[in-house]
Amino acid sequence: MSVVSAREMLFKARKEGYGVAQINVNNLEWIKAVLTTVEELKSPVILGVSEGAAKYMGGYKNVMAMVHALDEFYKVSVPVAVHLDHGTYEGAYKALEAGFTSIMFDGSHYPFEENLAKTKEIVAVCHAKGVSVEAEVGAIGGEEDGVVGMGEVADPKECEVIAATGVDMFAAGIGNIHGKYPANWPGLRFDVLENVAKVTKGVPLVLHGGTGIPADQVKKAISMGVSKINVNTELQLAFAAATRKYIEEGKDLEGKGFDPRKLLEPGYKAMKQVIKDKLEMFGSVNKA
Ligand code: 13P
Repeated sequence: MSVVSAREMLFKARKEGYGVAQINVNNLEWIKAVLTTVEELKSPVILGVSEGAAKYMGGYKNVMAMVHALDEFYKVSVPVAVHLDHGTYEGAYKALEAGFTSIMFDGSHYPFEENLAKTKEIVAVCHAKGVSVEAEVGAIGGEEDGVVGMGEVADPKECEVIAATGVDMFAAGIGNIHGKYPANWPGLRFDVLENVAKVTKGVPLVLHGGTGIPADQVKKAISMGVSKINVNTELQLAFAAATRKYIEEGKDLEGKGFDPRKLLEPGYKAMKQVIKDKLEMFGSVNKA
């Protein structure tokens, strides 16, 4: 039984100077790939579940049922947090009720005072249940309907106030975006990160948009106070490429190659490799 809040694992990561991966999951294969890989590498992990992914998996309760059952089946001993990614106000309450052990309330699109009030309320409700909370200031950009936004840069004054609400982890926009980075992406804004780290006084920081950020920038961000790095798109790309190759090579037409247990295996293995690479890059191997 290893399903826990993200608080302690992030506090330890911040103190010891490594990063914990938040790997976003979409279905059974995704959850299996993460749990088996982190157990092999003795790494803590955070399973990221967006509201859309939870809906796809049959709701928050089904996500928790799957995680608990797989945790038992694979005898997972490392700490695993189940975290709502970019939760709405309503979604945060629903995920909490279903037993999520960590909640991101993303109020970055609200006027600042409203983000602050709602974050405070959610921190109080979650902490009463031992559930960790992530807040965000400065929306993380990304591709939406084919338009790639460059991502906002957080205002350090706002970061200081939101981080002081008692959140367990804090996400600030530092030029990072979700999805693939465009060729002309100028890189992370380390000047902003430096200011954010100063005013948030030791609260573990979160780097969204972990797909495609070069290793040297990720490592530098970790050395400056980032303790959680979110990765989603990279697993989807690896899964799709491996599945495409299997089908293009006609393997689904050979024997029982159409059996989902065979058809999905290359994608599953490709995801495990991405997870392993990230855990090594973030420095969390053997830190469970
Ligand atoms: P990517 O899809 O860019 O890896 O971002 C993941 C993320 O930040 C989830 O919150």
